[in-house]
Order: sequence, then C-alpha cells, then structure tokens
Amino acid sequence: MADLSVNICGIDFKNPIIPASGVFGYGREYEEFYPLSELGGIATKGTTGQKRTGNLSPRIAETPAGMLNSVGLQNPGIDYFIQNELPNLLTKDTVILANIAGASVEECAEVAKKLDSTEVHMIELNISCPNVKQGGAAFGTSCEMAEQVTAAVRKATKKPLIVKLSPNVTSITDIAKAVEAAGADAVSLINTLLGMRIDIRTKRPVLRNNVGGLSGAGIFPVAVRMVWQTANAVKIPVIGMGGVNTGEDAIELMMAGASAVQVGMAVFTDPYAPIKIIHQMHDFLDENHISSVRDIIGTVQPW
Ligand code: SIN
Repeated sequence: MADLSVNICGIDFKNPIIPASGVFGYGREYEEFYPLSELGGIATKGTTGQKRTGNLSPRIAETPAGMLNSVGLQNPGIDYFIQNELPNLLTKDTVILANIAGASVEECAEVAKKLDSTEVHMIELNISCPNVKQGGAAFGTSCEMAEQVTAAVRKATKKPLIVKLSPNVTSITDIAKAVEAAGADAVSLINTLLGMRIDIRTKRPVLRNNVGGLSGAGIFPVAVRMVWQTANAVKIPVIGMGGVNTGEDAIELMMAGASAVQVGMAVFTDPYAPIKIIHQMHDFLDENHISSVRDIIGTVQPW
C-alpha cells in the first residue's frame, strides 16, 4: 500500500485528510462512526475569546451543488474548549488543529496565547469567515489587516501557525504573501465563497443573514485554481480545501500544490467521506504505482 504520510511544519500526519473546521465539531459525533485515529488530523470548530451564539436562523440552506451557511462562529469560547474538548481530542492519536477567530487583533492573539500553553499540535487562524461583521472577512480581504493579525498571533504563540484564507478577494496570492511575511508557517484555502439565494415566493433571502458562505462540489474548481496559484506564490506549505468529495479530488488538489487536504461539506452528506477519501487515495496511488503521496504534491504540468 502507498505511503500516505505527510509532514507539515514539522508535524507528522499519517495521511493528508483532515475534516475541515466547522463540519466536525470537536469530533464527538463522528467517533460513533469510526476511530478518529484513522484521520490525518481534525480542524476544530472556530473558537473565539468568549462564547458566541452565532447568527439568527435560518443559517443553512442547500444549493444544487453545495450549501450556503451563515453560522456566525457559534462556539463555547476558548476556556471551555481548553477545559472540556481539547483533552478528549488529544487522546485520539491524530493531529489536532485548533481553529481560532476573533473580532479584533487582540482577541485573536489572546486566544492563541491561551492555546500556546496546551498540547494542541497546530493553530489555524481563520481570517476568512464571511459571516461576522468584525474580524473574519475584514482581516482576510486586506493585506495590511491580514499581516497585522498574523503578526500579533505569531507573537502570542510558538505553535505551528496556519492562516486560513478567504477566496473573496481579487488576489489571494497577495494575501498569502502578506501572512507568510508576517510569520505564518502555512496557509489553508479556500474558505467559503460569499453567496446569496432568494425565496422568490416570499422575496426574502433564504438566510436570515441575507448572505452566507458557499461550500460543496460547486466550488472545487475555484479551490484548485487558488491552491495552484498560492502554492506557486509562497514558500510555506499550502493546505487545500473547497468542495473535495472523493479521493481523486484530494489527489487533484495535491497535484495543484496542496500538502494536505481538508474535507468540508462532504461529511454532512456522508460522515464516512474522509475515510472513503483516504481509501480512494490509496487505490489511485497503488493503481498508478506511486509509492508515496508526497511524490504527487505540486506535480501538475501546466500547458
Ligand atoms: C461560520 O461559523 O460562520 C463559518 C465559519 C467560516 O466560514 O469561516
């Protein structure tokens, strides 16, 4: 069987598949389906300084090739996470990426500082949530703000720092270069694309927040394009995500330049999706006589 292990920022992953932040909670619901140790890693739901109740409902809507969400970073707050969720996650023999967010630079730095004294393996700083008015997209759509918040979090922690980027920008490579310069050890992309649907009978937007983030198979080509461009623009590793549904999608994203792959919406339609993807990657590599998944990273040959 092919070797699926990868190393990102000095951290060993047994395989490159990581359920994305926000679709996997803290893993408890999925433990009923399979041992979490089968996963390369787990990105936890975005955690802020204080508990957040999130946006008003409806905040999820299906679309033909995906889903719109405007959850608004609902979470129990960093202290609760550290005391009640992280200890359980750290027993699971998989890499734990604590996803963090905040309404201000100071809040992001404070959350990172609290995590610095825990055993969490990596921090993923979300500067790309389209569903909150402060922080979120505001950080991720300006090079200056992206650099400022990354530098503050970098100062607050020695943990490997991944910065999660927004696709809702003119040039994602400019933002990637800004966070690399500010001390990010890796970038992850893409977060959701800002979208909107309207119920034509009520004339109301389907989401109470009017707009929300689009994820799912429909955004996969955008993810491939942005991962490819970013991997060619920065020296730090890129973690790819956005509409991955199959092992072949994950292979494609890695050929575009991703060192690992997060799986988002697919786990809502099939909780086993990450496990199936791992098996499908094995099948592809074995069928093509590729001994290590590392050998496919960035191997796309553009015309
Ligand atoms: C949310 O909680 O609104 C989703 C987080 C995100 O898209 O970054």
